Amino acid sequence: MTDTSAPAKPHLPDAQTVTEVTHYTDRLFSFRCTRPASLRFRSGEFVMIGLMGDPHPETGKQKPLLRAYSIASPSWDEELEFYSIKVPDGPLTSKLQHIKVGDEIILRPKPVGTLVHDALLPGKRLWFFATGTGFAPFASLLREPQTYEDYDEVIITHTCREVGELTYGAELIESIKQDEMLAELMGEGFADKIRYYPTTTREESPKMGRITDLMRSGELYEDLGVPPLNPDTDRAMICGNLAFNLELKDLFEAAGLEEGANSKPAQYVVEKAFLD
Ligand code: A2P
Repeated sequence: MTDTSAPAKPHLPDAQTVTEVTHYTDRLFSFRCTRPASLRFRSGEFVMIGLMGDPHPETGKQKPLLRAYSIASPSWDEELEFYSIKVPDGPLTSKLQHIKVGDEIILRPKPVGTLVHDALLPGKRLWFFATGTGFAPFASLLREPQTYEDYDEVIITHTCREVGELTYGAELIESIKQDEMLAELMGEGFADKIRYYPTTTREESPKMGRITDLMRSGELYEDLGVPPLNPDTDRAMICGNLAFNLELKDLFEAAGLEEGANSKPAQYVVEKAFLD
């Protein structure tokens, strides 16, 4: 007998299905997708995700277009979350920004990265320093129980150009503070350890300025009522653009903190926020 049913829609390799999309500004959006049953990762790691590229003009063949994306959801979440910039002429994000619930994306299930607890020595105070979409790995780590088991205080600084670019992080932190399931998982009062320090550089907001300048002037420490970075007590993770990462590295090294890695834990770790 001939099979007359329509051919099944071809599946992308390593396909996952989009379950939620949220747009924050004309430059930023987040989305959630299904998680491969076999995918294990440590909060803070990244994976390669993407879409099929346009067909080759002569051969018609399509190749996957992949970029590194920090997983913004914690390791225990049954879905995956990503936070992305939209670059109008970016090869991937110009397309990715149009995904809808039910669409497929490609996700290579090989997580890696340095923004993990294993790369830091024990300490008292954990700092997360982010610019722009560099907030993503911290969205994962802020929902990770170990973050609160290992530290007395968790300080997250996020510097963006405009106020609207802070929304994803601000809403996430608010939701963490009100989440009863997280309180049960991590213990009542865990969220009191979070100190959130958002700043903007190109639009008026309660706190303005680059975080690097606020550190140099001492304003950051004064505002938070904490002593300046000290290698005995402070641990830090950085995720932002390259110039930001380098400036912060200099500031940390000057304060006596050493860069750590999975194979050699130390006082701080760095990851570039990957741009299209
Ligand atoms: P600024 O507006 O002064 O450039 P971007 O979107 O370009 O990645 O920047 C995100 C945020 O990070 C902006 O607020 C930007 O400030 C800030 N920023 C960029 N470079 C640095 C740096 N080298 N040190 C500190 N902050 C930076």
